[in-house]
Amino acid sequence: MKVLVAGDGGYIGAVLVPFLRAGGHEADGLDLGLYDGCDLGVMPAGVGAGPPADIRDVTAARLAGYDAVVCLAALSNDPLGHLNPAATYSVNLAGTLCLARAAKRAGSQRFIFASSCSLYGAAGSAGVAEDGELTPLTPYGETKVLAERELSRLAGDDFSPVCLRNATAYGASPRLRLDIVVNNLTAAAMTTGEVRLESDGTSWRPFVHVEDISRAILATLEAPRQLVHDQAFNVGRFDDNLQICDIAGLVRDASPGSKITFADGAGPDVRNYRVDFAKLHDTFPDLALHWTVQAGIDELVSAYAQHDLSYDDFVSARFVRLRRIRELLAAGVVDDALRRTTDGTLPGAGFRAPEFRTPGNTVSSSAAAPAS
Ligand SMILES: NC(=O)c1ccc[n+]([C@@H]2O[C@H](COP(=O)([O-])OP(=O)(O)OC[C@H]3O[C@@H](n4cnc5c(N)ncnc54)[C@H](O)[C@@H]3O)[C@@H](O)[C@H]2O)c1
Repeated sequence: MKVLVAGDGGYIGAVLVPFLRAGGHEADGLDLGLYDGCDLGVMPAGVGAGPPADIRDVTAARLAGYDAVVCLAALSNDPLGHLNPAATYSVNLAGTLCLARAAKRAGSQRFIFASSCSLYGAAGSAGVAEDGELTPLTPYGETKVLAERELSRLAGDDFSPVCLRNATAYGASPRLRLDIVVNNLTAAAMTTGEVRLESDGTSWRPFVHVEDISRAILATLEAPRQLVHDQAFNVGRFDDNLQICDIAGLVRDASPGSKITFADGAGPDVRNYRVDFAKLHDTFPDLALHWTVQAGIDELVSAYAQHDLSYDDFVSARFVRLRRIRELLAAGVVDDALRRTTDGTLPGAGFRAPEFRTPGNTVSSSAAAPAS
């Protein structure tokens, strides 16, 4: 199968594209390149390597010949959505729909949309399924709800949108993110000795390894149409619904000498939900999601050690999407709508945000505001 992955230059894309290729598919990318050079290790050959392209401008001609399109391209987390809600709507909603309409016109039969469990918002601890109420708490979550709804309207005999509501990702990727909670807390423990929580740690959240997201995408690409046509699936494992304080304990134990600390005034986080993944596992009985959060933390500890992740790396813009976007805005290479103002090379990643360095060499883990 020939697959176009929009957003191949991001955290998930850098794992997904090699995964699809290893599965025998031809996978190409399309990306605005916002995080070019923001790497831990070496990007796989031919991934995130195309010229900058914006999903808001994609035409059917660009997508000719692709059997399927995967949309990972997005402004991908809650704090980023708050920075500029209009840009988040423009990319995550208008951009997704522009890509989907172009894919449909081009004759691509399947469109896999990277949605998010964050559209369940504050569903609480009961374990919400796909038909549960959607109560997004942020502009980011709202765009996922609206994009799902509009994609469903495009469904037809020759076009099958599939919405994968991914849990919050974790795990190593060459295009690492440290603004997602497991990755962040593990990096904090290793570079500062503190597993620092901004909340009281009681809220529930579902987690899924980045490779298991890739596994689910592959399964939905290869599935018979009637299994997935115009369907939404929660992507994760029920056992990886954890409270943030559970994650903190696992991270502390994996990073000897570290201790759990709380930010001043840390209270409950309103984003609180457990998710039911039965539909995915019932529909795909052979789909084995391999990873546990514990195994993912161990993997991250090894990856950070192997690549000498330092305190300066941790507080830089390189691995935190919000800081990187602020860096690009300050350099004038993207405008307020996050459109590229130049086709040239973006400024090198590595900018250090001094406001994140606090007395005692500890780090505000506002970067840990869990994205999803
Ligand atoms: N990482 C998670 O925890 C998680 C969880 C649930 C859902 N998701 C969804 O999965 C997708 C991928 O997430 P990620 O963690 O890889 O994000 P990421 O920020 O690492 O990657 C997103 C990619 O999209 C590209 N992009 C942004 N705007 C673009 C545009 N206008 N045109 C073309 N490319 C553009 C960026 O350059 C980047 O390479 C997103 O849609 C996100 O909402 C992620």
